[in-house]
Amino acid sequence: MKVYNIAVIPGDGTGPEVVVEGQKVLAAIGARHGLSFRYETYDFGGDRYLRTGETLPDSALQELRGYDAIYLGAIGHPDVKPGILEKGILLKARFALDQYVNLRPVKLYPNVETPLKDKGPDEIDFVIVRENTGGIYTGIGGATMVGTPHEIATQVMVYSRHVVERCVRYAYAFARRRARKSLLTLVHKNNVLTDVGDLWVRVHKEIGDAEFPDIRQDYNHVDACTMWMVKSPEFYDVIVTENLFGDIITDLGAMIQGGMGIAAGGNINPEGVSMFEPIGGSAPKYTGQGIINPLAAICAAGMMLDTLGEAEAALTVDQAVHAALATGRIRSMAAGRMGMSTSEVGDLVAGYAAA
Ligand code: IPM
Ligand code: MN
Repeated sequence: MKVYNIAVIPGDGTGPEVVVEGQKVLAAIGARHGLSFRYETYDFGGDRYLRTGETLPDSALQELRGYDAIYLGAIGHPDVKPGILEKGILLKARFALDQYVNLRPVKLYPNVETPLKDKGPDEIDFVIVRENTGGIYTGIGGATMVGTPHEIATQVMVYSRHVVERCVRYAYAFARRRARKSLLTLVHKNNVLTDVGDLWVRVHKEIGDAEFPDIRQDYNHVDACTMWMVKSPEFYDVIVTENLFGDIITDLGAMIQGGMGIAAGGNINPEGVSMFEPIGGSAPKYTGQGIINPLAAICAAGMMLDTLGEAEAALTVDQAVHAALATGRIRSMAAGRMGMSTSEVGDLVAGYAAA
């Protein structure tokens, strides 16, 4: 029996409700694949911040480094000013733990409605590798003469070769392991961002030519990418892109795969501790009603297994989600319209995961 030590941050709003369902599925998977999970829960989030003024203290970061992975519900509280929890918890963890890849699969499961006409599961199945610790998110820049007519503000898209290389290399290796279309599309905006875009373009080509000759290379400008994601999503296999572009196109990706209820993300440090989350947020208005969709959190748990090296167990999660949706019993991905409660959806998936 292999034991994994997982730090759980249920967080705000509906976060705790979906995390419980993910753990339910992990228990079923564990029984089947000989894995066990030891959880330690941390109460970081809006309530703790309002109570103590603390977001994610440095002492806790040090503790988090000692786990095999972190499983996160949601961060975001209606009574806390925007930015405080996002920067203080989510971004702080990503940066401090150097989770330099944000992995976001865009996969349409059967019976899940997509807003794209005439597109189905065969057409919508790709993965976005978003660079997760650099670019505009680095926070380099500043403001002066604030509040005057002459005020100036900047925030710079900064990238070092090292940061670009490690992300691009991860994306190539991911495309190889995925063994689907063997295609890595770089998304940037090098017709305008001629310096930082050019760095990405050269690294994409150099690493591809030297280390991944088996993977085809392609390039899209980010604006064109949003167009192709809607018009011809079947075109993509793996996309690699910088941080802010990735932030934007992964929300589009979440929509075409059926919505935030089923969109999972992994903040990955391949050499360190990674953190997995449903990307939908804390959904305060649905809190405590048992109507939020836990599938995103369940899929995030699957990604966690895959990243831990438990590829077979991860595949079982994917197959269980697939099977649960194939029954047609989950009527919508939207909170309150599933035709089932949060825990009933968890039970359904866990049943297939155990079988
Ligand atoms: C995401 C979110 C975060 C981001 C916010 C909450 C800071 O939008 O995970 O995509 O911009 O990365
Ligand atoms: Mn986002």
